[in-house]
This record gives sequence, structure tokens and C-alpha cells, in this order.
Amino acid sequence: MGGRMATALITGATAGIGHAFARRLAADGHDLVLVARDYERLERTAKELHEQYGIDADVLVADLVEDEGLELVEARLRDRDRPIDMLINNAGFSVNRRFIRGDIEGEERMLRILVLAVMRLTHAALPGMIDRGHGGIINVSSVAAFIPQGTYSAHKAWVNSFSRSIATDLAGTGVAVLVLCPGFTRTEFHERAAIDMSKMPRYMWLEADLVVDQGLKALSKDAIVCVPGPQYKVIATIARFFPVRALSRYSARFRGARRSTDSRSSVRPR
Ligand SMILES: NC(=O)c1ccc[n+]([C@@H]2O[C@H](COP(=O)([O-])OP(=O)(O)OC[C@H]3O[C@@H](n4cnc5c(N)ncnc54)[C@H](OP(=O)(O)O)[C@@H]3O)[C@@H](O)[C@H]2O)c1
Repeated sequence: MGGRMATALITGATAGIGHAFARRLAADGHDLVLVARDYERLERTAKELHEQYGIDADVLVADLVEDEGLELVEARLRDRDRPIDMLINNAGFSVNRRFIRGDIEGEERMLRILVLAVMRLTHAALPGMIDRGHGGIINVSSVAAFIPQGTYSAHKAWVNSFSRSIATDLAGTGVAVLVLCPGFTRTEFHERAAIDMSKMPRYMWLEADLVVDQGLKALSKDAIVCVPGPQYKVIATIARFFPVRALSRYSARFRGARRSTDSRSSVRPR
């Protein structure tokens, strides 16, 4: 990298797993491009990381549900004068509604951020990385990818399949793609989706820092799929052999119901 510190672009860098990636990569000496919608929070994060670790952190205000937001981030990824060495496709949310009779606009917004953004930003980042002969992409998926639980898990299954396919296509290019599949992680995700997690046993919770640490270790070892935490490694393994209906019923026991203060329909599958 010719003396230049590697630069990482992280989507959803202001909270949860994305913020943990930003802190960790800054501590490791990477310059950063932080992407999210909330300008003040982005600025605050960039300033803190610059002051604490002496790295350069740029911010990009972009709504990844919207075409304009996607185009802005794509343009940054394609800028050959300011190369991005690592892309973390992390931003995401769940609409947490049943698909059947649910609102299709909300569904489309979720599809756009969880699928379309991952595809488009990967497509924008790869040519430069391949030409430079090095680079890494981490697509933040979920253990939900292994379990049939509505459109959220369908989108994450797409991310897994897409990442695995691209990763094998990239063999020998010096560019690595990892799909990171965390289980329940303490972030703002469930609060934002109004999911009641009060019944979740403690042993099912992961810390964002652990998810990030295991993801970066896996990427450096050229792994393609990473499921952080022993409890989730077991779940991801047995999920492959479970009949679909049994799996869905079992996983529903752990899932938080929609909070009773919320008037929208319940999250539990029948
Ligand atoms: N937490 C879990 O249990 C868990 C488990 C498995 C997988 N995941 C996955 O991990 C990823 C990160 O989730 P998290 O748990 O860290 O959630 P989080 O704490 O809610 O953080 C989400 C981040 O994404 C950004 N974001 C949300 N909507 C956006 C939009 N339309 N455009 C651009 N940025 C947007 C948010 O910033 P702004 O609001 O400022 O835009 C925030 O920085 C997601 O892909 C999620 O599916 C989470």
C-alpha cells in the first residue's frame, strides 16, 4: 500500500456493529469513510476516532434505501484517487412485520438496504480492488440466513449466497470477501425495530466487539463465512439438517415478540 494506511468504508458506522468496526479499524490505524443518515452522529464519531487514534475519518451522509444515497457511496468507492481498501457492508434494519398482509413499501425499503445496497456497493468497489491487487469486503449478514424467518432472513440468505459466490470468483485476485453471520448482538437494532428482547437468555447475546474481532480474524485467514460465538456455530450447523417447520417453530421461541405498546401486528410466525 506504499506507506499509505489502508482506508475502510463502513456503512451504518454510527451504531452497533458498524460503530464497533469503526472503533476497531481506527485503533488498528486505518483511515475511515463513515456512512449513515445522521450527520451529527457521523461527525461526532469521526471527531472522536480522529482525536483518539490520529486517523483520518471522512463522513458521507447517505440513505442507502434511496438511489441518491447509493449513487453517492458508489461514486466514493469508484474514486481511483482515494482508494478504498476495505468495504464493510453493514447498514441494515428489520421492518419486523409479517410479510403476509404487511406493508409492501416497508418490505421494499428493507430489501433495498439489505440486498440492493450490498450488491451495488460491492459492484462499485471490486474493479478498483482487483486492479490494485488487494482489498477486502465484509458483508454483515446474520444467523437468520440459516433459518426461515420472514423476508429479513430471506435477504440475509441472499447475502450469504452472493458473498460465497463472489468470494470464489475472486480466487487469485488478492481480493477477499467474507460473509459475517452474527446472532443476537447488543446494538440499537432491536430497539429500532420495536422487538421485545426481554425474554432472551443471556447466553444468546453477543457483544459487537466480539463479532467484529472474529470477522476481521476470519477475513485475514481468507475464510468465506464466519459465524461468531460457539452457541451460534452449533445453531448454524444443526439448522442445515432440521426440517423447515420444526426450525421455524423452535427459533420463534427465542425471538422477541413485537412490544405490546406497539400497535403493529405480532412478529411471531404461526
Ligand atoms: N443486532 C443484531 O442482533 C444483529 C444480528 C445479526 C445481524 N445483524 C445485522 O448487523 C447489521 C448492523 O446492525 P446493528 O445491529 O449494528 O444495528 P443498529 O445498532 O441499529 O445500527 C444500524 C446502523 O445502520 C445505519 N442505517 C440504518 N438505516 C440506514 C439507511 N437507510 N441508510 C444508511 N444507513 C442506515 C444506522 O445509522 P442512521 O440511523 O444514522 O442511518 C446505524 O449506523 C445489520 O445489517 C443487521 O441486519 C444484527
